[in-house]
Amino acid sequence: MTIILHSMAEVRAWRTAVASAGPIGFVPTMGALHAGHLSLIALARQRAATTIASIFVNPLQFGPAEDLDRYPRPIVQDIALLEAAGTDALFLPEVAELYREGASTFVVEEAVSTPLCGATRPGHFRGVTTIVLKLFNIVQPDFAAFGQKDAQQCAVIERMVRDLNLPVEIVRGAIVREADGLALSSRNRYLSTQQRRAAPAIQASLQAARAAFDAGERRASALAAIGRSVLQREPAITLDYWEVCHPGTLQSLDNVGSDGAMLAVAACLGSTRLIDNLLVPPGL
Ligand code: PAJ
Repeated sequence: MTIILHSMAEVRAWRTAVASAGPIGFVPTMGALHAGHLSLIALARQRAATTIASIFVNPLQFGPAEDLDRYPRPIVQDIALLEAAGTDALFLPEVAELYREGASTFVVEEAVSTPLCGATRPGHFRGVTTIVLKLFNIVQPDFAAFGQKDAQQCAVIERMVRDLNLPVEIVRGAIVREADGLALSSRNRYLSTQQRRAAPAIQASLQAARAAFDAGERRASALAAIGRSVLQREPAITLDYWEVCHPGTLQSLDNVGSDGAMLAVAACLGSTRLIDNLLVPPGL
């Protein structure tokens, strides 16, 4: 049975009641749950005595021209999925519960959050770090699970945890994909049939660059050119970025060195923006 908690006071009371059972694992989400989210619940359940998820479509991390209003909110289905996955509790707050009128304190990470999505989505990571710190303060988990699908988000949160001395361990879960390679995303449901057919080219572009890496190519410009050329063959796809960056700092590389690299792509199909990434060498 998943207990649904709407207010901070309810979460605090619940937390006090379960604290003695052992470690608390936390999976923050924006809902429209899919197998990627559920893999994080499974990951948390492996290590935690008690698992709590949150569903909150955080207005602070959406830009003015982004999809806040149309973001899918299938809450009845989400609760059923969390139940079936064995989640102990769900924090489901309203916007007014988390953001007071006139809130004027925000969390800004200034290095890892600047390239890639930070460059094309100004203010996005400020919204993410602010809400994640708030959720950590309310839930006070021992660890929290985040998906490698949003690798930059993982890196930004890990940096925040380190820099602000937060007593929360961050655990990364692997990317869950459709059979044709498309990374699962709540935004995939926006895609038309034609766009859905084109979307696996995003993953294919990463695989093409990986094949070149495996064959010995180490120049970032050459790897990126291979990846971009795969996407350019798909007229339904507009490239946002295709980058070869350091897996820890996310700074762009000239050559892939001993630390390996993250190949990262963001692309639009119509107004739907999708991201994906791959680490080289595999298993990094
Ligand atoms: P959301 O997009 O709902 O994602 C919630 C978590 O699920 C994130 O950690 C994300 O990386 C992970 N996830 C999404 N797709 C995945 C996939 N295909 N495989 C594995 N994990 C996947 O990310 C957010 O929400 C928000 O920014 C949030 C952290 C909740 C702050 O508002």
